[in-house]
Amino acid sequence: MKKLLLQLDPDPIPATFDTVVGYDGGADHVVTYGSIDPDNVQWITDGAIFTRAPKEKRYTAIFVGGSSMAKGEALFKAVKKKFFADFRVSVMLDSNGSNTTAAAGVAVMAKNRSLAGKKAVVLAGTGPVGMRAAVMLVREGATVALTSRKMERAQASCDQIRERFGLTVTPVQAVSNEERAQTLRDAHVCFAAGAAAAPLLDKAHWQANPTLELIADANATPPLGVDGVEMFDKAKDRDGKIVWGAIGFGALKLAVHRACIGKLFEANDLVLDAEEIYAVAKEMA
Ligand SMILES: NC(=O)c1ccc[n+]([C@@H]2O[C@H](COP(=O)([O-])OP(=O)(O)OC[C@H]3O[C@@H](n4cnc5c(N)ncnc54)[C@H](OP(=O)(O)O)[C@@H]3O)[C@@H](O)[C@H]2O)c1
Repeated sequence: MKKLLLQLDPDPIPATFDTVVGYDGGADHVVTYGSIDPDNVQWITDGAIFTRAPKEKRYTAIFVGGSSMAKGEALFKAVKKKFFADFRVSVMLDSNGSNTTAAAGVAVMAKNRSLAGKKAVVLAGTGPVGMRAAVMLVREGATVALTSRKMERAQASCDQIRERFGLTVTPVQAVSNEERAQTLRDAHVCFAAGAAAAPLLDKAHWQANPTLELIADANATPPLGVDGVEMFDKAKDRDGKIVWGAIGFGALKLAVHRACIGKLFEANDLVLDAEEIYAVAKEMA
C-alpha cells in the first residue's frame, strides 16, 4: 500500500519545499494541488476518505501549506469538516513552515529553562511563523507582544490568535528598528519573525538591552533580521545573550517537519497543528 501525501496549497503554485520534505518524511508519492480553497477542496477530501479500507486509510494523509496563515487555517478547517465516523485521514497544517519553524525556535529557547513569567516580543510577528511563535511562547507561560509596521495588522493577527487558541497576545506598532528596540524594553525573549531579507534590529539595540536573555532570528536570507546574530548561531553566547540564527534551529525545524510527516502515516485520525507539532519539537529539541 503506497503512502500518499496530498499536499494542498491555497497559492497557485504548491510550495516545492513542502513537496521535498513530504518525500523526505516518508511519503511514497506526494500529490500537489494549487489554488485550493474551502469550496473546491471537497473533491479532494472525498477522494481521500472514500477510497481505502478502514485499516488502509492511514496510508493516505493530507498536508495544508501555503503562504497565508488565515487561508491555511480556513482550508484546514474545511478539510476536517468533511470527515465523519472513520471516514477520515490524518492531516497536518504548516502554512509557510509556520508550525514547524516556530516550534523549533521556541523549543530550543525553552529547553532546560523556564519561560514562565518572562516577557517575550515577537518582532514582525504578523506572518505565519510569528503568529505561531507567539502562541507557543504564551503556552510556555510568557507574556507576549507581537509587532507589525501597521497596528491594524498586529491587531488582526492577535485577534486571529485569540479566535483560534483563546490566548492573549498584545499588538504593538513598530515601524523602524528604533521602535522595535523600544518594544524590547524590559523584555527577556526576542523572537524575530520578519520576512526574508528584512532587517529588524541593529546590533546596538539588543547588545545594550540589560534584560534581554534569549534571541532567535528566523530569517535565513541576508540581510538577517537581527544584526550581529549569525545564521548558524546555535545557543551561542553573544554579549551575555543566548542567540540562535535561522540555520541554528533550522536543522531541528526540518527534523520536526519530517517526523510529523512520518507520524501522519501511523494512524488515520491524527490532527497535527500548533499544539501537536510543538509537542514533537519539545521532545526532539
Ligand atoms: N529557519 C527556518 O527553518 C525557516 C523556515 C521557514 C521560514 N523561515 C523564515 O522565517 C521568517 C518568517 O516567515 P513568515 O512566512 O512568517 O514571514 P512573512 O510572512 O514573509 O513576513 C513576516 C512579516 O515580516 C514583516 N515585514 C515584511 N517586510 C518587512 C520589512 N521590510 N521590514 C520590516 N518588517 C517586514 C511583515 O509584517 P508587517 O507588514 O505586519 O510589518 C510580515 O508579515 C522568514 O524570514 C522566513 O524566510 C525560516
